[in-house]
Amino acid sequence: AAIVEHTFNVGGMNISQLCTDTVIYTANEQLPGPTIEATEGDTVVVHVVNDSPYPLSIHWHGIFQLLSGWADGAHMITDCSVQPSGNFTYQFNVTAQEGTLWWHAHSSLLRATIYGALIIKPRNGTDGYPFPAPYGEIPILLGEWWNKNVNDVEIDAHLTGLGQDISDALTLNGLPGDQTPCTGAGIYGVEVEYNKTYLLRIINAAVNVELFFKVAGHNFTVVAIDASYTDPYATDTIVITPGQTVDALMTTSAPPGRYYMAANVFDSKTVPFRFNTGTATGIVKYEDAPDDDATATMPTMPSHEDVVTAGNFYWSLTGLVRPSDPPVPKTVDHDMVVEFGVDQAPCAVEQTKCQGFALVAFMNRNSFQFPRNASLLKALYDGVQGRVYSEDFPSSPPPLPGIRRATSVKRLNYGDVVEVVLQSRVYSSVLGAENHPIHLHGFNFFVLAQGLGRFDPRANSTYNLVNPQVRNTVAVPAGGWAVIRFTANNPGMWFMHCHLDAHLPLGLAMVFEVLDGPAPNLLPPPPVDYPKCY
Ligand code: C2O
Repeated sequence: AAIVEHTFNVGGMNISQLCTDTVIYTANEQLPGPTIEATEGDTVVVHVVNDSPYPLSIHWHGIFQLLSGWADGAHMITDCSVQPSGNFTYQFNVTAQEGTLWWHAHSSLLRATIYGALIIKPRNGTDGYPFPAPYGEIPILLGEWWNKNVNDVEIDAHLTGLGQDISDALTLNGLPGDQTPCTGAGIYGVEVEYNKTYLLRIINAAVNVELFFKVAGHNFTVVAIDASYTDPYATDTIVITPGQTVDALMTTSAPPGRYYMAANVFDSKTVPFRFNTGTATGIVKYEDAPDDDATATMPTMPSHEDVVTAGNFYWSLTGLVRPSDPPVPKTVDHDMVVEFGVDQAPCAVEQTKCQGFALVAFMNRNSFQFPRNASLLKALYDGVQGRVYSEDFPSSPPPLPGIRRATSVKRLNYGDVVEVVLQSRVYSSVLGAENHPIHLHGFNFFVLAQGLGRFDPRANSTYNLVNPQVRNTVAVPAGGWAVIRFTANNPGMWFMHCHLDAHLPLGLAMVFEVLDGPAPNLLPPPPVDYPKCY
């Protein structure tokens, strides 16, 4: 196993995009940021130097962080963020996982521009893939772009109480493409050879939108999601919610030419609301095709409301079961129901632009509050939990109305098996519901079942205990449910939250506190340069 070492200098950079000059914060002046490529079993070392004016944490989305929870990079959950002019070296092993993951800032809205791919190759190279070795690999990072400073977007959202402004463009590998109001916006292009199979590593790094992705004239075979192999699944449309990744094979057997790749918003909201109606584009160019983009074919994108296409994709995938994979645990130690959604709340005094009502979000009526004086992990390690958080996150929705704002966690013992019915609810007829991408740090989970409406406990006879999807982020259907199961075999503080960034400051989150196991499963002390508050 090797050491894969990077330095990320995070700072401001001038950029002109959508005919607007602005300053954005990036790692190493790259958008998307540097790709980290490792082999299963390697150690990844990233020196983060914060030359931005904002506190910064970087999260390695989907990495297990086995006994390295200090490096999880969740602001105020696992560290207090690297302060301006500070630095921190994140170090972790990428063991027992492979495929496409990604990294992103996990403090304020910085992840809009501070993100990149994190690719873990099998130990024995491309022979390790459970599918024929692809001829080439093409990373596709889908994102969102604001003309305004994203930190101001977040501040405004708080002052109005009404959530974040919609983005000004969708992006594909950092560029909006040529279907935007501003011409010359920049377009990503990739050259391919005829009749070869390529592996597309697709990442939804967008901040607040689910996406459809297509390539004109081409079909896909999905082979992995969230760095977990799937049974091969044929489709012409990829559906992907923020936080997720999809690995798909694409064979270049179309008549040699130029083909658009395109991404547009899948809008799952049950109540009409504004959303970004743009399309991000890129170009797939066959090697002998003419150089003129005007000859490129555009794919027919699904309509923004196409829940059928989205549901087919999300619900049809099954996990590829290999002998080395951990089986679905058959007995459960904690049976939880977590109901969540967004509701209307009275304006707070500091919300000076608030008119009528503000948004609030919660899980089991607990609106998650970030601690201020210590990260949860440091408090756990130092044995000062009671001063920083409470261990009373309810295992089922409390009967009483009312919303509690608290830093509340669910305590688990090492090795406990947890099943959670994630139930999306409509709390306000004005706001309705939408798909919420629920992401769990530190673990993959099995998705045993999904459904619309209210979960019925009799659905447990339909659980897929044989070859369920294995994910770290699930798009819980609007007003519907998903059942997940995981084994808490890693001590630490593990965030579970909605990956729509607009919902995080509103409180759509909770934390699993996993106590130490018997030695040698003990969490080691924090690294010397660990960003602590005290
Ligand atoms: Cu990709 Cu807690 O995030």
